[in-house]
Order: sequence, then structure tokens, then C-alpha cells
Amino acid sequence: MFITLEGLDGSGKSTQLHLLREALAADGREIVATREPGGTELGELVRTLVLEGPDMTAWPEALLYAAARAQLVAEVVRPALARGAVVISDRYIDSSLAYQGVGRGLGVEQVLELNLAVVGGLLPDRTFLLLVAATEADARQGAHRDRIEREHLSFHQLVDDGFRQLAAAYPERIVALNGSLPPAELAAAILAEVRRAEQGLPPASGAARADA
Ligand code: TYD
Repeated sequence: MFITLEGLDGSGKSTQLHLLREALAADGREIVATREPGGTELGELVRTLVLEGPDMTAWPEALLYAAARAQLVAEVVRPALARGAVVISDRYIDSSLAYQGVGRGLGVEQVLELNLAVVGGLLPDRTFLLLVAATEADARQGAHRDRIEREHLSFHQLVDDGFRQLAAAYPERIVALNGSLPPAELAAAILAEVRRAEQGLPPASGAARADA
């Protein structure tokens, strides 16, 4: 099972990754948690370059994220899935679709095509999208801001819009949740959806789901 968490910076992804990891570990299965960009030696170097490096135009940025992702899939994700582990990733392809495809204006189709090519078509079984208003996400951020986080609010609003479009386009994979709910409530909703996915059931609509 391959699970990804998506949302704006400050949407609470890391907290939910931690809670989901703990909940699933109680099953006694191997859990591999990772993050993007990063998760491999090459990926962490690319992370520094893309987040702390010089200004760059949109395609180089998309290509760097794709390069880190290709390495992560080959080195970590596919081997883990082959062993029967559950893989949980803090961000994956949908981040590139929302940030580079919509935010930078490269186009969702073009960025999707690039990414599917470099990861051999691997898509998550479930993606949890934590929705929070761009203004709220901004207020939740710490003092150090990377190259993407320093972008204007209007950029983050475009990205948020991109994520919502993706959730509407892929309802069988992406579960959009209200990221402003108490963390424990969100964690319970995510775990319930993971259990459904394990049984081969489609996402359910429930109280915690956002009207995205
Ligand atoms: P993240 O690790 O979530 O940031 P943090 O360490 O602050 O929690 O993500 C780093 C940034 O990279 C984030 O602003 C979103 C951006 N990003 C993209 O623009 N495209 C991508 O494909 C990915 C994976 C991340």
C-alpha cells in the first residue's frame, strides 16, 4: 500500500504522517515513511538545491523535483512495496501538479506526463489532501521560509486551487479533508480511509471530508 499526504506548507501533513505511522505500526507491519523532495542521498542534495538554491525558472524547478522523485521511487518506494511494506510519503506527484503545474503555470497535463514517465507510472493507492485556507497555512508557518514558502500569498492560493481541482478530478484516489479539524479527529478519518483502501473499497464520504 502506497499512501501520500498532500497540502500547503503549514497544513499539518507532518503531524498526520506521524499519527498514521504510529497507528499502522500497531498492526505489526513494516512502515516506510519518507518525504519529498528528499528521502535519498541524491534527493536530499536536490532538496537543498531547489529550496535553498538560486532563483530558477519553472521547468528546471519541475525537473529537479522530478529527479528527486525518480530516485526515491527506484531506491526506496518500489523495493519497500515489493517487500510488502506500507509506504507513507509526505508529498508526491500531486505536489508537482499543484505547485509547478498550476502555481507556476506549466500545466497539469504536462507536469503529469513528465512525472509518470520518470516514476514508471507509479501512483499512490490513497492520497490525503489536507485543506486549509492559504492565509491560515501562512499563519501556521515558522520563521525560516524556503524559496517556495517565500512566494506571495497569491501563489499559495493558486496552489490551493490546484489541489482542489486534483481532488475533484481523482475522487477514487484523493481524499480531501478539512485540515482545520482537531489532529486526532483527522487521524481517525485518515485511518478509517486506509482501512477501506486495504479492503479494496473506494473512498467514503464522511463528516470529516471537506466540501472541496
Ligand atoms: P516540504 O518538505 O513540505 O516543506 P517543509 O520542509 O517546509 O515542511 O516541501 C518543500 C517545498 O517544496 C514545499 O514548499 C512544496 C514544494 N514542492 C513543490 O513545489 N513541488 C513538489 O513536487 C514538491 C514535492 C514540493
